[in-house]
Parts: sequence; C-alpha cells; structure tokens
Amino acid sequence: MADQSSNQMWGGRFAAGPDAIMEAINASIGFDKRMAAQDIAGSRAHAAMLGATGILEPSDVEAIREGLLTVLSEIEGGTFAFSTALEDIHMNVEARLKEIIGEPAGRLHTGRSRNDQVATDFKLWVRDQLDAAEAGLLALMKALVAQAEAGADWVMPGFTHLQTAQPVTWGHHMMAYVEMFARDLSRVRDARARMNESPLGAAALAGTGFAIDRHMTAEALGFDRPSANSLDAVSDRDFALEFLGAASICAMHLSRFAEELVIWSSAQFRFVVLSDRFSTGSSIMPQKKNPDAAELIRAKVGRIFGAQTALMMVMKGLPLAYSKDMQEDKEQVFDAADNWMLALAAMEGMVRDMTANREALEAAAGAGFSTATDLADWLVRELGLPFRDAHHVTGSLVAKAEAKGCDLPDLSLAEMQSVHDGITEAVYGVLGVHNSVASRMSYGGTAPARVREQVARWKEILG
Ligand code: ARG
Repeated sequence: MADQSSNQMWGGRFAAGPDAIMEAINASIGFDKRMAAQDIAGSRAHAAMLGATGILEPSDVEAIREGLLTVLSEIEGGTFAFSTALEDIHMNVEARLKEIIGEPAGRLHTGRSRNDQVATDFKLWVRDQLDAAEAGLLALMKALVAQAEAGADWVMPGFTHLQTAQPVTWGHHMMAYVEMFARDLSRVRDARARMNESPLGAAALAGTGFAIDRHMTAEALGFDRPSANSLDAVSDRDFALEFLGAASICAMHLSRFAEELVIWSSAQFRFVVLSDRFSTGSSIMPQKKNPDAAELIRAKVGRIFGAQTALMMVMKGLPLAYSKDMQEDKEQVFDAADNWMLALAAMEGMVRDMTANREALEAAAGAGFSTATDLADWLVRELGLPFRDAHHVTGSLVAKAEAKGCDLPDLSLAEMQSVHDGITEAVYGVLGVHNSVASRMSYGGTAPARVREQVARWKEILG
C-alpha cells in the first residue's frame, strides 16, 4: 500500500513521498502552467478521439469534456489552486478533473503519456507564438514601408565602416530593414510549416496497443498530420530550437536597427526625433531624452540568443527518447518569446512615431566627399578613363578640397582642370547628392524611382 504522501498520479510503487528538495527540482508547474489552455485543448481532442474509436464510453467522454471546460474556466478565472506536489500542468489538470467528475477522469490518460502530452502542449504553445511573431513582423514592416514612402527621395549619408560613403535615400534605408524582416518572416513561416506534425498518441515512446486514431487528434488540433515515428515524436525539440533560431536572427536584426536609432537620435547626429511616447527622461539631467526602448531592444538579442544556446546544450547528446532534461526547454522559450514579442512591438511603435530630420539628413549626406564615386564614374563615362585612373584623379581632387577645407562641388573648374584637363563644367551635374542618388538606377539601387517601385511592391504584398 502506497504511503499517503506519495504521488497520487504515479505513487503506486512508492512507500514514501519525495523529499522537499526532490519536489523543488522536479516540479515544473511554476512555469508550465502557461501551457494550460494547450494542455486542455490536447486533452479534449484526445478524449473525443477515445470516444469516436469506442475506447471510452460516450458518457465518460461527455463527463471529461464538461469537466475540462470547468477546469479551463477556473484557470482563466484565476481561481485554480496550482499544486507543486502535482509537479506539472498535466497532473494538476487531471487531478482537478478527478475532483470535479470523479472516476471517468482516470480514463482520460488511456493510450497517451505525459511524454507525448508535453510535446503536444509545447508545440501548440510555440505555434501560437510563431503566429504572434508573424503578426508583429507584419506590423513592423508596414510601419517601415510608410516611413520609406514618405521619404523615398530624402537624401542621407550611406555608411561603410560608419564612415560616410555614398549618399542614399531615407526610403532605401528603411526598405533595407523591410527585406531583413521579410526574411525573418519567411523563417517563421518555414518553422511553422515544418513543426506542424502532431506528437499526440506517440504515448510514452513506443506507441500504444489501443486502437487510437492519431489522424483524428492531429486534425482536431490543427496539425497537418501525425508525426510518423513515436520515438522521434516524444524526443524532438527541433521546433523549439527553430523558433529560437528565427527569434535570434530577428533579434539580431532588431538590435542593428536599434543601434542606428540610438546613434541617429543623438545630439551629434540629429537624424531622427523619437516620440515622447517611446523615450524616457533622466532623473538628474533635465535636458535629456533617452532612447531607452532602442537600447533595450539592442540588448534583448543577448537573452534570446542565450536561450537558443541553452536549449541546444540541453538537447545535445540526449539519448532517445524522453529524458527529464527536456523539462528545461520551456523557461528559455517562454522568456525568449516574451521578449521577442515585446521588442517587435516596441520597435513598431518607435518606427511609427519617429520623425526624420530631413534637413539634417541632407546636410550630412553631402559631407565627407560622399559624391567622390560619382565623380570617378563621370570621368569613366565622359572622358573614357579606366576606372583605376579615374579613382586616382578623384583622389587628388579630394585631397585638394580637403586642403582647401571645402567640398568637391566647391572646387572651381580651373582647380579641377589642374588635376585633369579634360574635366568640363558638366561635372558639377553629378556632384550634388540628389543627382548622385537619382543616378543609382541599377536594380536594387538607391534611386528614388527604385525605392518607389519597392514600396509599391511591398504595399501590395502587405495589403
Ligand atoms: N513536466 C514534464 C516536462 O515538462 C512533463 C513530462 C514528464 N514525463 C515524465 N515521464 N516524467 O517535460
């Protein structure tokens, strides 16, 4: 006879209950209660299938169905008493079901195990998060396209090595991020399509002798099909790793944009003004307006990528099939998901609200001899110089302007001709920043006309 204090779910062979430390290290209810809705959805699908296949009596199935709805409303209403002694969400729900409906509750676990149950719940939870990430990415992309459309022909410095390189358009810079987030979106959709196989009915590891219908439960839960191998089904956490992989790359993209916003909103750059709604003040320096949201987004990649590394290390070297190590999958994913969604929403808000400082962008666009390449290209096109020679001539002109403390268009024609006598008045036509960006009509280039094509394309896609 089992000790009264042993676990009511699996305590049959135990003479004593667990040590408090054992209970503390073993329990996951503190965090896996976040999967309550998924757990109950999985149990409802399983119970309905047990009824349809004649494994359970219709009256038991009906009692289970109604009881599970009551449990769900208690959890949603905040009246459910979670118990650490009952370890996890699966056993908490089942124990409460037993209190409500009695004996039929004990029949729910026929033909399944907590191993396929947890894999199913967690997949459903991650799938919901992929859907939320998709919505967040689409909203952010729309905000970026709106910024690009407004400033398709505003000029700004384009950088390499964070040194002024060539003028680009504001719209082009915004659309660069649209492309990055579009790849993130496609990773999210790929991961969702690949993960959408149901582990339910794989049971502990080997499948079950009951004549269950895994296709039925898969369909009820919105999966495309049941997973084909029961050992793989209960031991696979690829879906969580792919989620974290997609999240990490997206967070990395977010951090790059966040870093640009931090730089751009500084007093030294003044390229953008962030709205009051997405800035904070300093408790000591009254003049300060800080881009905290951007800084925090910049930092979030740390914990999200950390989660991916942590779960990869949990899964590395695990023999088939389920091991309790795998209980360590959830907190990492929960934390990464929360912070990813928050970062997406905060970035969308910042982008929607921010104002580009068109004058400051344009003033900076021409600084640092940013149209030197245009000058070299002109020498190639108009005077037939080989590009290497044109590069050299332009370098001499830059040195001349630098010595004079002026910009390239400020050099007189005579000064230009002292470096190369073939140069004509027409050269000034390519030296302005607007001429420069307008000339970059190659596919994918920064010309306003090209940017408007991309804006139109994305508006069509995003609706
Ligand atoms: N709480 C467990 C987890 O998150 C559920 C599965 C437990 N399975 C078992 N055989 N002990 O992984």
